[in-house]
Amino acid sequence: MIKVNLNESKIKNDINKFRETKIKEVHDMIENKTGEGCEFLGWNNWPVEFNKNELSKMKKVAQELRNKIDILLVVGIGGSYLGARAADEMIRGLYTKDKVELIYIGNTISSTYTQQVVDYIKDKEFGIVNISKSGTTTEPGIAFRVFEKLLVDLKGKQNAKERIVAVTDKAKGALKQLATAEGYETFTIPDDIGGRFSVFTPVGIFPLLVAGVNVDDIFKGAKKAMQDTKNINNEAYKYAIARYILHTQKGYKAETLVGYELQMQTFTEWWKQLFGESEGKDGKGLFPTSCIFSTDLHSLGQFIQEGTKNILFETIIDVKKPNLDLKIPKNSEDLDGLNYLTSKTFHEINKVALEGVIDAHANTGEVPNIILEFDKMDAEMFGYAAYWFMKACAMSGYLLGINPFNQPGVEVYKANMFKLLKKPGF
Ligand code: PA5
Repeated sequence: MIKVNLNESKIKNDINKFRETKIKEVHDMIENKTGEGCEFLGWNNWPVEFNKNELSKMKKVAQELRNKIDILLVVGIGGSYLGARAADEMIRGLYTKDKVELIYIGNTISSTYTQQVVDYIKDKEFGIVNISKSGTTTEPGIAFRVFEKLLVDLKGKQNAKERIVAVTDKAKGALKQLATAEGYETFTIPDDIGGRFSVFTPVGIFPLLVAGVNVDDIFKGAKKAMQDTKNINNEAYKYAIARYILHTQKGYKAETLVGYELQMQTFTEWWKQLFGESEGKDGKGLFPTSCIFSTDLHSLGQFIQEGTKNILFETIIDVKKPNLDLKIPKNSEDLDGLNYLTSKTFHEINKVALEGVIDAHANTGEVPNIILEFDKMDAEMFGYAAYWFMKACAMSGYLLGINPFNQPGVEVYKANMFKLLKKPGF
């Protein structure tokens, strides 16, 4: 479902010389859980090992909630936020006709944004899923306080209780205690799966069920990617090795993931977190950035084409089949001179843009391009792609010699903030 095309990468020959024994060594570290951080490898076999009873229960609770609400507030940040949104937007698109709209809160401390959400939802039927593995993160914590109170004030305690779900650790953290005390339905984030690897756990799956997404297809795609990457000759590792060579042997410092579909924008945000938090350690790692073309060709395109060289390479997501397509209408006057395009669809023109830009950036601009050919943008493809990138990230991180599964740097700002806010104990 994903094919890696290295024709414009400028390292096609280097890839063939890469030592297979090294790949085998890292692959075994992942599969046998022998590397640093291996206690967080629960995601590796999750597409077959996930808790089937919990999924059945989630489906029931999500359906009951779906019947009562028009908006689901998804509270969470980082790994407890990006996966659900990436899937929601990739699969349903940016303007869905589905009954339930998802609105994301707790991923910012912006007062204006938060108050605008309050004003937008207060006369609508809404529910809340509060997602936090630690249960102590400030951003979702304070947002939940606001919206829990609003719901209780509007609907009364009992009705509010039927519309609030918590996704958190099985035993520890303030959210677990709160959910138990208030009697909120709770689903568990497994101990051995970290935030940015958690989209197939209730963290991603529960909100997507409420959104009416076919999560069985997500698991089908994830399982397929899991099976495809059990052998060392797989496309995910090919991508990992290509970016490793560009970084460590050719000196590139940044990778920009490029989509040509607006509905892939949050997927690129999810990818940035996956690779940024996993690899940015010990003074190592590619800085992950992202663009949506052709939109960003009118901003960053100039820099990529002619700016500082040997800094950044591009990884292009080339989606073969769009979810929808439309034709350019004929106009008898042709005052805008666009009738020459009326035999084509938008997708066909988007493909021409992709080809023209790759030629301009890779050949004229000398910027290496890795092309990832995606079949489509549905639930199965999301499951496949999300798992595929996680596996590539594990390979890539271990090749760099870092622990891909911790994020000690993220804790520094959290501790500073607690100290400045005078949190007890800090
Ligand atoms: O990937 C990670 O571990 C982080 O981005 C966390 O997901 C993020 O900090 C939110 O943490 P929590 O789920 O504990 O609220």
